[in-house]
Amino acid sequence: MSETVQPAINAATRLCAVLGAPIRHSASPAMHNAAFAALGLNWRYLAFEVAPKNLRAAIEGAKAMGFAGLNLTVPHKLLAVEMMDALDESAETWGAVNTIRFESSAGVPPANLAKRAVETPALRSDAKIHAVGFNTDADGLANSLREDLGLELRGAKVLLLGAGGAARTAALKLASENVAELFLVNRTSSKAEEISNEVKRRFPSVRVAVGFPKANVDLILNATSLGLKAADASPLDEKQFSLKQTLAVYDMIYRPAETRLLAAAKAAGCRTANGLGMLLRQGAKAFELWTGQPAPLAVMHRALEQNIYGH
Ligand code: ATR
Repeated sequence: MSETVQPAINAATRLCAVLGAPIRHSASPAMHNAAFAALGLNWRYLAFEVAPKNLRAAIEGAKAMGFAGLNLTVPHKLLAVEMMDALDESAETWGAVNTIRFESSAGVPPANLAKRAVETPALRSDAKIHAVGFNTDADGLANSLREDLGLELRGAKVLLLGAGGAARTAALKLASENVAELFLVNRTSSKAEEISNEVKRRFPSVRVAVGFPKANVDLILNATSLGLKAADASPLDEKQFSLKQTLAVYDMIYRPAETRLLAAAKAAGCRTANGLGMLLRQGAKAFELWTGQPAPLAVMHRALEQNIYGH
Protein backbone atom coordinates (compact mmCIF):
# COMPACT_ATOMS: atom_id res chain seq x y z
CA MET A 1 0.00 0.00 0.00
CA SER A 2 2.92 2.31 0.68
CA GLU A 3 3.74 2.15 -3.02
CA THR A 4 0.54 3.92 -3.94
CA VAL A 5 1.21 7.47 -5.09
CA GLN A 6 -1.45 9.96 -4.24
CA PRO A 7 -2.27 12.30 -7.11
CA ALA A 8 -1.24 15.90 -6.49
CA ILE A 9 -3.95 18.43 -5.73
CA ASN A 10 -5.38 19.78 -8.95
CA ALA A 11 -8.66 21.00 -10.38
CA ALA A 12 -10.12 17.51 -10.17
CA THR A 13 -9.41 17.01 -6.46
CA ARG A 14 -12.48 16.02 -4.46
CA LEU A 15 -12.92 17.54 -1.02
CA CYS A 16 -14.32 16.48 2.32
CA ALA A 17 -14.05 18.34 5.61
CA VAL A 18 -14.95 18.32 9.25
CA LEU A 19 -16.77 21.32 10.74
CA GLY A 20 -16.68 22.02 14.45
CA ALA A 21 -15.75 24.51 17.15
CA PRO A 22 -13.10 24.08 18.40
CA ILE A 23 -11.53 21.97 15.65
CA ARG A 24 -7.76 22.43 15.92
CA HIS A 25 -7.16 19.10 17.67
CA SER A 26 -9.28 17.00 15.33
CA ALA A 27 -7.52 13.83 14.20
CA SER A 28 -9.99 13.26 11.37
CA PRO A 29 -7.91 14.99 8.65
CA ALA A 30 -4.91 12.73 9.44
CA MET A 31 -7.11 9.63 9.40
CA HIS A 32 -8.95 10.38 6.16
CA ASN A 33 -6.02 11.79 4.22
CA ALA A 34 -4.01 8.67 5.04
CA ALA A 35 -6.90 6.57 3.74
CA PHE A 36 -7.25 8.59 0.51
CA ALA A 37 -3.50 8.31 -0.05
CA ALA A 38 -3.48 4.57 0.60
CA LEU A 39 -6.13 4.05 -2.08
CA GLY A 40 -4.47 6.50 -4.50
CA LEU A 41 -7.56 8.72 -4.53
CA ASN A 42 -7.31 12.32 -5.61
CA TRP A 43 -9.29 13.40 -2.56
CA ARG A 44 -8.39 15.63 0.40
CA TYR A 45 -9.93 16.17 3.83
CA LEU A 46 -9.78 19.52 5.61
CA ALA A 47 -10.93 20.95 8.94
CA PHE A 48 -12.82 24.21 9.42
CA GLU A 49 -13.68 26.03 12.61
CA VAL A 50 -17.30 27.04 12.11
CA ALA A 51 -19.45 28.79 14.73
CA PRO A 52 -22.99 27.44 15.15
CA LYS A 53 -24.47 30.63 13.67
CA ASN A 54 -22.54 29.96 10.44
CA LEU A 55 -23.24 26.24 10.17
CA ARG A 56 -26.02 26.53 7.62
CA ALA A 57 -23.94 28.82 5.38
CA ALA A 58 -20.94 26.50 5.65
CA ILE A 59 -22.97 23.44 4.64
CA GLU A 60 -24.57 25.33 1.76
CA GLY A 61 -21.13 26.57 0.69
CA ALA A 62 -19.67 23.07 0.66
CA LYS A 63 -22.67 21.87 -1.30
CA ALA A 64 -22.34 24.71 -3.82
CA MET A 65 -18.63 24.01 -4.26
CA GLY A 66 -19.10 20.34 -5.01
CA PHE A 67 -17.66 18.86 -1.82
CA ALA A 68 -18.15 15.11 -1.61
CA GLY A 69 -19.13 15.22 2.04
CA LEU A 70 -18.67 16.62 5.53
CA ASN A 71 -18.26 15.42 9.06
CA LEU A 72 -19.77 17.41 11.89
CA THR A 73 -18.52 17.46 15.42
CA VAL A 74 -19.25 19.39 18.62
CA PRO A 75 -21.42 21.52 18.71
CA HIS A 76 -23.11 20.85 15.37
CA LYS A 77 -24.52 17.33 15.39
CA LEU A 78 -28.02 18.18 16.63
CA LEU A 79 -28.25 21.59 14.94
CA ALA A 80 -27.62 20.09 11.52
CA VAL A 81 -30.60 17.74 11.57
CA GLU A 82 -33.01 20.40 10.31
CA MET A 83 -30.49 21.66 7.74
CA MET A 84 -30.46 18.44 5.74
CA ASP A 85 -32.39 17.88 2.51
CA ALA A 86 -32.87 14.27 3.57
CA LEU A 87 -31.99 12.11 6.54
CA ASP A 88 -30.74 8.58 6.37
CA GLU A 89 -32.40 6.25 8.87
CA SER A 90 -29.24 6.33 11.00
CA ALA A 91 -29.53 10.09 11.56
CA GLU A 92 -33.27 9.94 12.03
CA THR A 93 -32.96 7.19 14.63
CA TRP A 94 -30.37 8.97 16.75
CA GLY A 95 -31.58 12.51 16.05
CA ALA A 96 -28.07 13.68 15.21
CA VAL A 97 -25.93 14.06 12.09
CA ASN A 98 -22.17 13.46 12.10
CA THR A 99 -21.75 12.73 8.39
CA ILE A 100 -23.16 14.48 5.34
CA ARG A 101 -23.00 13.09 1.83
CA PHE A 102 -23.75 15.42 -1.05
CA GLU A 103 -25.74 13.51 -3.63
CA SER A 104 -26.91 14.50 -7.08
CA SER A 105 -30.67 14.66 -7.58
CA ALA A 106 -30.69 11.21 -9.08
CA GLY A 107 -29.16 9.90 -5.86
CA VAL A 108 -25.66 8.54 -5.67
CA PRO A 109 -25.62 4.85 -4.82
CA PRO A 110 -22.55 4.32 -2.63
CA ALA A 111 -21.29 1.49 -4.81
CA ASN A 112 -21.06 3.81 -7.81
CA LEU A 113 -19.97 6.93 -6.07
CA ALA A 114 -16.22 6.44 -6.01
CA LYS A 115 -15.91 5.51 -9.65
CA ARG A 116 -18.09 8.34 -10.82
CA ALA A 117 -16.65 10.80 -8.38
CA VAL A 118 -13.07 9.96 -9.24
CA GLU A 119 -13.58 9.88 -12.96
CA THR A 120 -15.89 12.85 -13.24
CA PRO A 121 -14.99 15.03 -10.31
CA ALA A 122 -16.78 18.13 -11.46
CA LEU A 123 -20.45 17.75 -10.69
CA ARG A 124 -22.66 18.90 -13.52
CA SER A 125 -23.61 22.48 -12.87
CA ASP A 126 -27.27 21.84 -13.63
CA ALA A 127 -27.56 18.89 -11.24
CA LYS A 128 -29.47 19.54 -8.04
CA ILE A 129 -27.37 18.50 -5.09
CA HIS A 130 -28.91 17.20 -1.89
CA ALA A 131 -27.31 17.16 1.54
CA VAL A 132 -28.11 13.77 3.07
CA GLY A 133 -27.46 13.38 6.80
CA PHE A 134 -26.13 10.18 8.34
CA ASN A 135 -24.99 9.17 11.78
CA THR A 136 -22.04 6.80 11.95
CA ASP A 137 -21.28 7.33 15.67
CA ALA A 138 -23.67 4.72 16.99
CA ASP A 139 -22.44 2.00 14.62
CA GLY A 140 -18.88 3.08 15.36
CA LEU A 141 -19.42 2.46 19.07
CA ALA A 142 -21.16 -0.89 18.62
CA ASN A 143 -18.47 -2.13 16.24
CA SER A 144 -15.72 -0.98 18.56
CA LEU A 145 -17.31 -2.74 21.56
CA ARG A 146 -17.57 -5.92 19.52
CA GLU A 147 -14.18 -5.82 17.87
CA ASP A 148 -11.97 -4.09 20.43
CA LEU A 149 -13.49 -5.71 23.53
CA GLY A 150 -14.84 -8.91 21.96
CA LEU A 151 -18.17 -8.19 23.57
CA GLU A 152 -21.45 -9.79 22.53
CA LEU A 153 -23.99 -7.00 22.89
CA ARG A 154 -27.14 -9.10 22.66
CA GLY A 155 -28.08 -10.14 26.18
CA ALA A 156 -25.32 -8.08 27.83
CA LYS A 157 -25.70 -6.22 31.12
CA VAL A 158 -24.29 -2.72 30.92
CA LEU A 159 -23.60 0.07 33.40
CA LEU A 160 -23.54 3.33 31.45
CA LEU A 161 -21.95 6.37 33.09
CA GLY A 162 -23.20 9.76 31.87
CA ALA A 163 -26.37 11.21 30.40
CA GLY A 164 -25.20 13.80 27.86
CA GLY A 165 -25.44 13.55 24.08
CA ALA A 166 -22.86 10.77 23.75
CA ALA A 167 -24.50 8.75 26.52
CA ARG A 168 -27.94 9.10 24.96
CA THR A 169 -26.74 7.77 21.62
CA ALA A 170 -24.88 4.95 23.40
CA ALA A 171 -27.95 4.00 25.47
CA LEU A 172 -30.26 3.92 22.47
CA LYS A 173 -27.76 2.01 20.32
CA LEU A 174 -27.15 -0.58 23.04
CA ALA A 175 -30.91 -0.97 23.47
CA SER A 176 -31.34 -1.43 19.72
CA GLU A 177 -28.69 -4.16 19.86
CA ASN A 178 -30.84 -5.99 22.42
CA VAL A 179 -28.71 -5.71 25.51
CA ALA A 180 -30.61 -7.37 28.37
CA GLU A 181 -30.17 -4.72 31.05
CA LEU A 182 -29.05 -1.14 31.08
CA PHE A 183 -28.16 0.77 34.26
CA LEU A 184 -27.79 4.53 33.94
CA VAL A 185 -25.76 6.60 36.40
CA ASN A 186 -25.19 10.32 36.07
CA ARG A 187 -24.25 13.24 38.33
CA THR A 188 -27.55 14.87 37.37
CA SER A 189 -29.91 11.96 37.78
CA SER A 190 -32.87 13.70 36.14
CA LYS A 191 -30.99 13.48 32.84
CA ALA A 192 -30.48 9.75 33.34
CA GLU A 193 -34.23 9.47 34.03
CA GLU A 194 -34.97 11.20 30.73
CA ILE A 195 -32.80 8.76 28.79
CA SER A 196 -34.27 5.85 30.71
CA ASN A 197 -37.78 6.96 29.74
CA GLU A 198 -36.80 7.29 26.09
CA VAL A 199 -35.22 3.81 26.06
CA LYS A 200 -38.36 2.35 27.71
CA ARG A 201 -40.60 4.00 25.15
CA ARG A 202 -38.53 3.01 22.11
CA PHE A 203 -37.19 -0.38 23.21
CA PRO A 204 -39.73 -1.86 25.63
CA SER A 205 -37.99 -5.24 25.78
CA VAL A 206 -34.81 -3.81 27.35
CA ARG A 207 -34.76 -3.57 31.13
CA VAL A 208 -33.50 -0.14 32.04
CA ALA A 209 -32.99 1.42 35.46
CA VAL A 210 -31.39 4.53 36.91
CA GLY A 211 -28.80 3.67 39.56
CA PHE A 212 -26.07 1.12 40.21
CA PRO A 213 -26.67 -2.58 39.44
CA LYS A 214 -27.18 -5.03 42.29
CA ALA A 215 -25.33 -7.83 40.46
CA ASN A 216 -22.35 -8.18 38.14
CA VAL A 217 -22.34 -6.65 34.66
CA ASP A 218 -20.54 -7.42 31.39
CA LEU A 219 -19.56 -3.85 30.63
CA ILE A 220 -19.04 -0.45 32.22
CA LEU A 221 -19.16 2.25 29.56
CA ASN A 222 -17.95 5.76 30.36
CA ALA A 223 -19.74 8.41 28.32
CA THR A 224 -19.02 11.31 30.69
CA SER A 225 -16.29 13.83 30.01
CA LEU A 226 -14.55 12.95 33.28
CA GLY A 227 -11.04 11.82 32.49
CA LEU A 228 -10.29 14.31 29.72
CA LYS A 229 -8.21 16.31 32.20
CA ALA A 230 -5.36 14.72 34.12
CA ALA A 231 -6.72 15.98 37.43
CA ASP A 232 -10.21 14.50 36.85
CA ALA A 233 -11.53 11.93 39.28
CA SER A 234 -12.72 8.59 37.95
CA PRO A 235 -16.32 8.74 36.70
CA LEU A 236 -16.99 5.51 38.63
CA ASP A 237 -17.63 5.65 42.37
CA GLU A 238 -16.02 2.38 43.38
CA LYS A 239 -17.71 2.52 46.76
CA GLN A 240 -20.98 2.10 44.90
CA PHE A 241 -19.85 -0.43 42.33
CA SER A 242 -16.57 -2.32 42.19
CA LEU A 243 -14.50 -2.91 39.06
CA LYS A 244 -14.35 -6.55 40.22
CA GLN A 245 -18.01 -6.73 39.24
CA THR A 246 -17.50 -6.22 35.51
CA LEU A 247 -15.80 -8.16 32.75
CA ALA A 248 -14.94 -5.17 30.59
CA VAL A 249 -14.60 -1.39 30.73
CA TYR A 250 -14.83 0.94 27.74
CA ASP A 251 -13.96 4.63 28.00
CA MET A 252 -15.23 6.79 25.14
CA ILE A 253 -12.37 9.17 25.92
CA TYR A 254 -9.23 8.48 23.82
CA ARG A 255 -7.12 11.47 24.82
CA PRO A 256 -5.39 10.54 27.16
CA ALA A 257 -5.03 6.94 25.98
CA GLU A 258 -5.41 5.65 29.51
CA THR A 259 -7.77 7.47 31.84
CA ARG A 260 -7.81 6.92 35.58
CA LEU A 261 -10.82 4.65 35.04
CA LEU A 262 -9.05 2.49 32.44
CA ALA A 263 -5.88 2.20 34.54
CA ALA A 264 -7.93 1.03 37.52
CA ALA A 265 -9.92 -1.36 35.31
CA LYS A 266 -6.72 -2.90 33.94
CA ALA A 267 -5.37 -3.31 37.46
CA ALA A 268 -8.62 -5.05 38.41
CA GLY A 269 -8.16 -7.51 35.53
CA CYS A 270 -10.92 -6.19 33.26
CA ARG A 271 -10.73 -6.17 29.48
CA THR A 272 -10.37 -2.52 28.46
CA ALA A 273 -10.51 -0.27 25.41
CA ASN A 274 -10.59 3.47 24.85
CA GLY A 275 -12.65 5.50 22.39
CA LEU A 276 -10.07 5.47 19.61
CA GLY A 277 -11.78 2.44 18.11
CA MET A 278 -15.06 4.33 18.00
CA LEU A 279 -13.41 7.32 16.33
CA LEU A 280 -11.80 4.97 13.81
CA ARG A 281 -14.96 3.08 13.01
CA GLN A 282 -17.25 6.10 12.68
CA GLY A 283 -14.63 7.53 10.30
CA ALA A 284 -14.37 4.32 8.33
CA LYS A 285 -18.13 4.27 7.84
CA ALA A 286 -18.11 7.91 6.66
CA PHE A 287 -15.24 7.15 4.29
CA GLU A 288 -17.23 4.30 2.75
CA LEU A 289 -20.34 6.47 2.41
CA TRP A 290 -18.35 9.08 0.46
CA THR A 291 -16.05 6.96 -1.66
CA GLY A 292 -17.99 3.72 -2.01
CA GLN A 293 -14.78 1.83 -1.30
CA PRO A 294 -13.88 -0.31 1.70
CA ALA A 295 -12.02 1.81 4.25
CA PRO A 296 -8.38 0.83 4.81
CA LEU A 297 -8.84 0.33 8.56
CA ALA A 298 -5.24 -0.49 9.47
CA VAL A 299 -3.93 2.60 7.67
CA MET A 300 -6.54 4.80 9.33
CA HIS A 301 -5.78 3.31 12.74
CA ARG A 302 -2.06 3.95 12.36
CA ALA A 303 -2.69 7.53 11.24
CA LEU A 304 -4.89 8.18 14.28
CA GLU A 305 -2.34 6.78 16.72
CA GLN A 306 0.43 8.80 15.11
CA ASN A 307 -1.63 11.96 15.20
CA ILE A 308 -3.02 11.58 18.71
CA TYR A 309 -0.27 9.75 20.61
CA GLY A 310 2.71 10.65 18.46
CA HIS A 311 3.81 7.07 17.86
P1 ATR B 1 -21.33 14.88 25.32
O1 ATR B 1 -22.06 15.49 24.17
O2 ATR B 1 -19.89 14.56 25.04
O3 ATR B 1 -22.07 13.72 25.90
P2 ATR B 1 -22.35 16.54 27.43
O4 ATR B 1 -23.69 16.44 26.81
O5 ATR B 1 -21.86 17.87 27.91
O6 ATR B 1 -21.22 16.02 26.43
O7 ATR B 1 -22.29 15.48 28.65
C1 ATR B 1 -21.22 15.41 29.54
C2 ATR B 1 -21.46 14.29 30.54
O8 ATR B 1 -20.38 14.24 31.47
C3 ATR B 1 -22.71 14.46 31.38
O9 ATR B 1 -23.22 13.20 31.74
C4 ATR B 1 -22.15 15.20 32.62
O10 ATR B 1 -22.92 15.06 33.79
P3 ATR B 1 -24.16 16.08 34.05
O11 ATR B 1 -25.28 15.62 33.17
O12 ATR B 1 -24.46 15.94 35.50
O13 ATR B 1 -23.66 17.46 33.68
C5 ATR B 1 -20.86 14.46 32.79
N1 ATR B 1 -19.90 15.25 33.57
C6 ATR B 1 -19.19 16.31 33.13
N2 ATR B 1 -18.41 16.79 34.12
C7 ATR B 1 -18.64 16.02 35.22
C8 ATR B 1 -18.16 16.02 36.57
N3 ATR B 1 -17.24 16.91 36.99
N4 ATR B 1 -18.62 15.05 37.40
C9 ATR B 1 -19.52 14.15 36.99
N5 ATR B 1 -20.03 14.12 35.72
C10 ATR B 1 -19.60 15.03 34.86
